[in-house]
Amino acid sequence: MGIGTSLPATRVSNFEIESFLDTSDEWIQSRTGIRERRVAEPELTLLQLAARAARAALQAADLDPSAIDAVICSSSSPDATFPSLACRLQAELGCPHGPAFDVQAACSGAIYGMALAQSMIQSGLSRTVLVVAAEIFSRVLDWSDRSTAVLFGDGAGALVVGSSNQEGAQIVALDLGADGGGAWALDTIRYHPIKQEPARLRPEYATSDRAMDRVVHMDGREVFRFSTKILEQIVLRLAGAARIEVDQIALIVPHQANSRILGTAAGRLGVPFDRFTCNVDRLGNTSSASIPLALAEAEGQGRCHTGDLVCLVAFGAGLTWGGVLLRWQPTGVVVDDPGDLEKSNQSLSDTEGRSTPRREEISG
Ligand code: ACO
Repeated sequence: MGIGTSLPATRVSNFEIESFLDTSDEWIQSRTGIRERRVAEPELTLLQLAARAARAALQAADLDPSAIDAVICSSSSPDATFPSLACRLQAELGCPHGPAFDVQAACSGAIYGMALAQSMIQSGLSRTVLVVAAEIFSRVLDWSDRSTAVLFGDGAGALVVGSSNQEGAQIVALDLGADGGGAWALDTIRYHPIKQEPARLRPEYATSDRAMDRVVHMDGREVFRFSTKILEQIVLRLAGAARIEVDQIALIVPHQANSRILGTAAGRLGVPFDRFTCNVDRLGNTSSASIPLALAEAEGQGRCHTGDLVCLVAFGAGLTWGGVLLRWQPTGVVVDDPGDLEKSNQSLSDTEGRSTPRREEISG
């Protein structure tokens, strides 16, 4: 396995959003834990963001695009119904002509993609699958709707999934599910741009055309209830499938919806919150990209050790959910973040028992 991520350079703080929307940094931080998010520059396309993450993952896995015989993409913010992002990415990277298709499982997309990749490899259909989750959510938000606009951010993550005799973290257990009866709680509606108020001019990302002309619509309380419950259930089911106790899981990498959801789920599971990864404060909710982004960050911070059980848990619109239990092995990670001013990942030092990933920063 190899992991690559990419982020737009532009940071948007809660204070910036305060300048054009009836909200406050205090409200956003106390309800969601979000301080800032990344937002795609007007000229950045979803394909470009996805390709940057994909190239980073290939570099992390030390592979040429010619080694990839299937491409699976996930995005809830596509700019076209077809051709798929995966087909366009296959051509962009120059991968061989194996299968290429998108999965639509909203925030669970990267986990659905990993599960499909594993099944395709086990069936003999593919050898090495590239799974890419890319989101420009800032283009599917109604920036006059304070109940959703403050929650999301843009970014992409990619994983190279290979057979069990290849290097990197190994998949131990999988869990996938959906309940279409809950589709109403989180969906999209046609976009009706509101008339601009001269006193509160909005930035370009908030006024440009919306991807597919639709925007996010959500019942926040229902999503909160579903997310906290399902997160707990997935972890318990994965632990059951692997015949382990929950406290044997070294790290839980959940979908980064918001920190209150994660804190509540940690409490329900009786797992200390420091065993959860949380980057929502800096990136907001990046939908299907959030788990690869959080996993790459956890590895970069030295939180994944050889032999550890690492649990990825996703939940999202559909309603969908999914989990992957990994046995951690040295796994390459490459981060493409032109906006990382602190370059905090460069200060990493290898510690005893920690894997030693190939790591190269790509700067913009
Ligand atoms: N700024 C200021 N006030 C706001 C904002 C905002 N951005 N958004 C809503 N409010 C107001 C509401 O209008 C309401 O005002 P009122 O009482 O005068 O009517 C008040 O705050 C309370 O609104 P609630 O919706 O009850 O707020 P709540 O405390 O439930 O928190 C939240 C809302 C944070 C969305 C919560 O329901 C939640 O965490 N839900 C989970 C949803 C989520 O994170 N979704 C992410 C995407 S889904 C996914 O990834 C799976």
